[in-house]
Amino acid sequence: MNDLMKKIDNDVEFKQIIKEIITNDTVLQMKKFRQHFETSCFDHCLRVAFYSYLLCKKYNLDYKAVARAGMLHDLFLYDWRKKDASRKGLHGFTHPKYALQNASNLFNLNKKEQDIILKHMWPLTIKFPKYKESYIVTLVDKYCALSESYVVCSKKFFNKKIYRYAYLFLSVCVLKFI
Ligand SMILES: [Fe+2]
Ligand SMILES: [Fe+2]
Repeated sequence: MNDLMKKIDNDVEFKQIIKEIITNDTVLQMKKFRQHFETSCFDHCLRVAFYSYLLCKKYNLDYKAVARAGMLHDLFLYDWRKKDASRKGLHGFTHPKYALQNASNLFNLNKKEQDIILKHMWPLTIKFPKYKESYIVTLVDKYCALSESYVVCSKKFFNKKIYRYAYLFLSVCVLKFI
């Protein structure tokens, strides 16, 4: 995350676009909730927003919309690991609606930003995204979720002696055959 923070810190335009969002008290509450393993919802959204912004800038797409909506796409504001009778349905399917509701209460979102937030779990949620930018965020979101999970899982994996030896053994076997 540190390298990413440096890159974000050097990107004046990105910081300007998301300034009103990341200084909002409700948005800052995302720091209290874990999204994937050690990553908070806030940091996860920041990653998704920044990578989506870079991609859209490169391909002449609406980088402002993905930066804003990326930052808000998981603004559901609850611990999804804890059951709560007031929430109906599975988190994976329902949280985009909560995030959109919360985000719409705080900011004026255009149609594209709304679509990005609401469809970011596609294809889990069946309705197809309407915009190229929405597809970018769905892909970047999955990439970030995987990389945030991979870091922790690989640490756990290599911490176990048996796996370390198994890995070494397999590496030696592979090297012998190439
Ligand atoms: Fe999400
Ligand atoms: Fe996400």
